[in-house]
Amino acid sequence: MPAILAIESSCDETSAAVCVDGAILSNVIANQTIHEAYGGVVPELASRVHQQNIVPAVQQALFNAKVSKNDIDAVAFTRGPGLLGSLLVGVSFAKAFALARQIPLIEVNHMQAHILAHFIAEKKPAFPFICLTVSGGHTQIVLVKDYFDMEIVGQTLDDAAGEAMDKTSKILGLPYPGGPLIDKNARNGNPDAYQFPEPQIPGFDFSFSGLKTSILYFIRDNVAANPNFIQEHMNDICASVEKRIATILLNKLKRAAQQYGIKHVALAGGVSANTGLRNLLQQMGDQNGWEVFIPKFEYCTDNAAMIAIAGYHKYLKGEFIGQDVAPLARMPF
Ligand code: KG4
Ligand code: ZN
Repeated sequence: MPAILAIESSCDETSAAVCVDGAILSNVIANQTIHEAYGGVVPELASRVHQQNIVPAVQQALFNAKVSKNDIDAVAFTRGPGLLGSLLVGVSFAKAFALARQIPLIEVNHMQAHILAHFIAEKKPAFPFICLTVSGGHTQIVLVKDYFDMEIVGQTLDDAAGEAMDKTSKILGLPYPGGPLIDKNARNGNPDAYQFPEPQIPGFDFSFSGLKTSILYFIRDNVAANPNFIQEHMNDICASVEKRIATILLNKLKRAAQQYGIKHVALAGGVSANTGLRNLLQQMGDQNGWEVFIPKFEYCTDNAAMIAIAGYHKYLKGEFIGQDVAPLARMPF
C-alpha cells in the first residue's frame, strides 16, 4: 500500500498530488498568472513563483488526501524535461522531504508521465499502444510498449503544436496562454472558413513553422485590406487554425497506427484538452475501429497526479534514485 507524494514544477504550474496504492487521492495545481502580462512564460519569474507555491501546494495535497506526511512512503518528482530553474524548485523540495523522512526518491520523465496519466482512469490502454503527446514544448508520436519502454516514432522538427496555438493567438492579439482561447472561440466558428497549408514532411515527423508563417501573412494581408478583419472573423480564424493543427496531427497519427498495426490510440499533453482535436480523434477512431483514450481535462495540462501514477509504477519496480540527482532541461526517455 505505498503512499506516494508527487511534485511537478517543470514549467509554470506548481502541482502536488498524493497517490495511495495506485489511486489518486489529491491533485493540487497552482497556476501562475504572472506570465500573462509578458505573452509567454518568463523562466526567472516561474521559478520564483514555484518557490512561493510549493509548500502550500504540498500541504493542501496532503490535507485533501487526508494523509499525514509521516505516512508518505516515497516522493516522486519531475526531473525533466522543462525549465531548469522551475525544475530545480521541485527537485530540491522532493530531495529535502525524502531526506528528512528517510524515504526513497523516484525520478519521473514529464513526457512519459503525460502518457502514463492514462493509467489513472478505470479504462486503461493495453500495451502496445500509440500515444500522440501534444504540449507547449513537445509534439510526439510514441509507441508505448510498456510503462517505461517507449519509443518516439515521430516528433516536431521545429515548433510544438501548443506553441503553434499560442503563437497564433499572439498574432490575433489574445493573451497567453492562447490555446484555451483558440478552443473557446473556435466553438462558435466555421472550421472550413479558411484553408491553411498542410506541411509535407516525410515519415511521422511534424513541422509547424511554415503554418505559423502562413497564418502571419494571411492576417497581415487581410488586416491591410480591412483593419477590423480579426475582430470581425475571430471565431472563423480560430476554428480554421484549430482544424488545420488537428488534421496535421491526426493524419500522421493515423498513418503511424496503420504502420504499427495498433488499435489502442491515446492522446496526451496540454493540447489534448482541445475540443476540436478530441472530437476529430474520436471520429477517426470510430472510422478506423480504434479504441480511443482521451484524458480527463484535469490530467491534460501539467499536473502532479500523472507524476504520482508514473512514480507508483516505478515504486512497484523498485526503481529509486539517490540524493545526488539533479534536474535535466532535456531528458530522453
Ligand atoms: O502539457 P502542458 O500543460 O505544458 C507543457 O508541458 O508544455 O501544455 C501547455 C500547452 C499550451 O501551449 C496551451 O496553450 C495548450 O497546451 N493548451 C491548449 C488547450 N489547453 C491547453 N491548446 C488548445 N486547446 C486547449 N483547450
Ligand atoms: Zn506538460
